[in-house]
Amino acid sequence: MKICVIGTGYVGLVSGACFADLGNTVYCVDKNKKKIDMLNSGEIPIFEPGLSEIVKKNYISKRLRFTNDIARAVKSSDIIFICVGTPTSKKNKSADLQYVYKAASEASKYINKFKIIVTKSTVPVTTGDKIEKIILKKKKKNLFEVVSNPEFLREGEAIRDFRFPDRIVVGSNNKKVIRKLESLYEPLIKKGSVFFQTNRRGAEMIKYASNAFLATKISYINEIANFCEKTDVNVEDVSLGMGLDKRIGSRFLRAGPAYGGSCFPKDTKAITVTADLFKTNLSIIKSVINSNKNRKILLVKRIQKIFSNKIKNKKITILGVTFKPNTDDMRQSTSLFMIPFLSKKGAKINYYDPSGEKKEFSKLKNVSFLNDIRESCLNSDLIIIHTEWDEFKTLDFKKICRNKKVKIYDMRNLYSPKKMKKIGITYYSIGR
Ligand SMILES: NC(=O)c1ccc[n+]([C@@H]2O[C@H](COP(=O)([O-])OP(=O)(O)OC[C@H]3O[C@@H](n4cnc5c(N)ncnc54)[C@H](O)[C@@H]3O)[C@@H](O)[C@H]2O)c1
Repeated sequence: MKICVIGTGYVGLVSGACFADLGNTVYCVDKNKKKIDMLNSGEIPIFEPGLSEIVKKNYISKRLRFTNDIARAVKSSDIIFICVGTPTSKKNKSADLQYVYKAASEASKYINKFKIIVTKSTVPVTTGDKIEKIILKKKKKNLFEVVSNPEFLREGEAIRDFRFPDRIVVGSNNKKVIRKLESLYEPLIKKGSVFFQTNRRGAEMIKYASNAFLATKISYINEIANFCEKTDVNVEDVSLGMGLDKRIGSRFLRAGPAYGGSCFPKDTKAITVTADLFKTNLSIIKSVINSNKNRKILLVKRIQKIFSNKIKNKKITILGVTFKPNTDDMRQSTSLFMIPFLSKKGAKINYYDPSGEKKEFSKLKNVSFLNDIRESCLNSDLIIIHTEWDEFKTLDFKKICRNKKVKIYDMRNLYSPKKMKKIGITYYSIGR
């Protein structure tokens, strides 16, 4: 099939490359010329394991093309995927849909024969209706169909998630269009993924309801972890004990920092604002948003307590600043709150992240990136493990840090408190 992907970010680039890998011809369009130039010169603008190989292979075979020319890409394709960003609106915390509407409006100019317009971006319920109206301004109804096909991939695991999704949700009542999308996804369905069809609004709702539920699960176990700390209970045991119940499930039940990333924070806000417009109070999700906000404050307070409120001139090392491992994405990471806070309090911060230096911290006082774990931990008073990268899982802290009194705050529970005690390290973790 011939496919056009508008928006070559995390979702668009991964989807475009993987669709090409399934044998389709894919035109990846982006308005960002620099990004397209990079891709055409063999550079991958994002860090995503396995992506570079797939892009390279399909680019060489000419199944995957990168262009700024939306006209040619739309005209040459049967299916147009909208994969542009839907960030939080500055006005009212809802999803800012300007990029989606702009992409739909631009694409509509070049609809020359029947096209399926698929929204992969996460959009509030009824957005598909509005996209349809926008296109109807330029083209007749029999020339297109607007479908919702939300994306569930996770950064860091995006290739695997695209190839082996639990489910493929498609929202449309047009049987012909559903059949076409079913055949596009056939290689994945054959490997066991469920193709789930519902109406367009239903698919839009499924995406937000899923993300808000997962965010709830994280906040839930984070609050239980707070309780465990006061009652001398190990939250890891609680997670395991709860997760063994199939009705609950063990995933997303690991206590840690506040949830972050490009999806949960913005999607939880957007669903509550949209629901308010429909006069529905999503009070559970609202309290999850609040709980997550409080968690960031709670963690920095705990750091202050470790130093008995005397943070000035203390040497603090942060291991990992991205919101999760195997990605370079900093959006809404707890570190964006924690590092500026500690810098303001006068701490001297070294940070290390396998995905490299971050522009977000470049202007902060006494904050340095060191491209080496050892160097960044040397002479540290406190080492904070913020992100669960594999390379932080088996560190010999006694060897890498010369300060014999170094303390560890392990926000990912990667180490055993017992073993840390045995080797004489003052060790703090989450919920135990
Ligand atoms: N990142 C994730 O893990 C993830 C997972 C599932 C769903 N989503 C959803 O997918 C959507 C995209 O997210 P992302 O993280 O890939 O965003 P992103 O910010 O990484 O990429 C969006 C891209 O769209 C481009 N763009 C914007 N307007 C355009 C236009 N008119 N024409 C061409 N290109 C345009 C931008 O230049 C950018 O490169 C969002 O709605 C997000 O909520 C994201």
